[in-house]
Amino acid sequence: MTDISRRDFTKSSFALGATTALSSMRVLGANDRVNLALIGCGDRGQQVWGFFLKQPDLNPVAVADVYAPNMAKAAEMAASKAAGKVVQHGDFRRVLEMKDVDAVQVGTPDHWHAIPTILACQAGKDVYCEKPLSLFVSEGRKMVEAARKHNRVVQTGSQQRSGAHYQKAIQMIHNGDIGGVHKITASFTRNVVPGFKPTEGLTPDCPKDLNWDMYLGPAPKVPYDPFRFLYHFRWFWDYSGGQMTNWGAHNLDIARWALKAKGPMAVAAFGGRYAIKDGGETPDVQEVIYQFPDAIVTWEGREVNRLRDEYLVFHGTKGSLSIMRNGFTILPEVSKAKSRNTTPAMEGMEMKATDGDATNPHVRNFLDCVKSRRRPNADVEDGHLTAVMCHLGNIATRLNRMLKWDAERETILGDREANLMLSRPYRKEWKLV
Ligand SMILES: NC(=O)c1ccc[n+]([C@@H]2O[C@H](COP(=O)([O-])OP(=O)(O)OC[C@H]3O[C@@H](n4cnc5c(N)ncnc54)[C@H](O)[C@@H]3O)[C@@H](O)[C@H]2O)c1
Repeated sequence: MTDISRRDFTKSSFALGATTALSSMRVLGANDRVNLALIGCGDRGQQVWGFFLKQPDLNPVAVADVYAPNMAKAAEMAASKAAGKVVQHGDFRRVLEMKDVDAVQVGTPDHWHAIPTILACQAGKDVYCEKPLSLFVSEGRKMVEAARKHNRVVQTGSQQRSGAHYQKAIQMIHNGDIGGVHKITASFTRNVVPGFKPTEGLTPDCPKDLNWDMYLGPAPKVPYDPFRFLYHFRWFWDYSGGQMTNWGAHNLDIARWALKAKGPMAVAAFGGRYAIKDGGETPDVQEVIYQFPDAIVTWEGREVNRLRDEYLVFHGTKGSLSIMRNGFTILPEVSKAKSRNTTPAMEGMEMKATDGDATNPHVRNFLDCVKSRRRPNADVEDGHLTAVMCHLGNIATRLNRMLKWDAERETILGDREANLMLSRPYRKEWKLV
């Protein structure tokens, strides 16, 4: 696996920036195949790659990962579909230098979303980047700026936005069909006690086919720890924000869409890792309250005692709309006020999902936008604003105090310590742009 020093990276990022105008930005017609490369070939990376590979107008050209077995698997998945040999690189920057790559799919952990996305935009590639769009607020804003500056299509991997029943539900809410929505309840709950610490199957030594330094990238240098590697990076602040950014990025995205809001005015939160004693850092119990001008949104994250699955409920004055990936249900409201009649305020309704978890229409929407140059369903700006909502929930939880948010200026009012948490220093020699 090629190991390029971080100093070289800085140089190469400049080089990529400088060659933007030279990169081959093809104008694609409806029948052209989009040349796609995958960066980060783990669990979700392979899932979405699989959906891309099913599209008739898709040509897989390259894969990049710091962990060779995952990269080899993604290349193998693509082999029969590819027009040529699927190129494999341990360093994603080599993929961005390939002139024949039109677009990249970024499936790396959260701490590795911003740099590949921004460099890809500079290199003239369109980007499908997993949610949560960023690890911290300032990264997301820079990602939006890069997409706009280089006129790139950047789709956030918030696939619920492409689900037919989510689109119908939002349309009904915006039409006022369930009345005024003044409360939204969002959650993710499950029971994972006693926790995730790997006890078998993984050696304490860094696997030979893993470039651990490149895996850490801009995050602080720590010795190899299998717990911080595949999937479980989610429980460490250096790489992710726990279930707040993992599932919050899905359901709070729909909540914010329904409210047509940039962000909340205030956030209060409590939480901690109370029950799970596995060495992870992010909360296993978390309650967050967001204040919007005319509505309260609450987020409940719980890894202890499931009771019921994740849910998202829009409480309207005429009815409540409860939505999950398998469909939605509207229960009509009946006024309890004396002297009012008890006729339900609206008809009840159900709609079943027809497109699974909606990843298929989401990748389709991305490819269509690559060709039409339209903004995709989960445009980078929406991905950013939703990630901000999640990050604010975590900052309020960690500081244990209420935050006042100025969504226009993207700043926390009157709280220097909290504002410092909107960005984090990168490891020496790595830079955002
Ligand atoms: N949209 C969804 O429904 C959904 C579902 C699951 C995960 N996700 C998101 O997908 C992302 C990945 O999650 P996962 O569970 O697949 O993680 P994972 O640990 O299974 O995979 C991450 C992969 O990225 C690779 N990687 C790390 N640094 C890299 C680098 N510098 N260059 C290239 N590859 C690198 C790792 O080696 C690994 O193969 C996360 O941001 C997560 O939030 C989204």
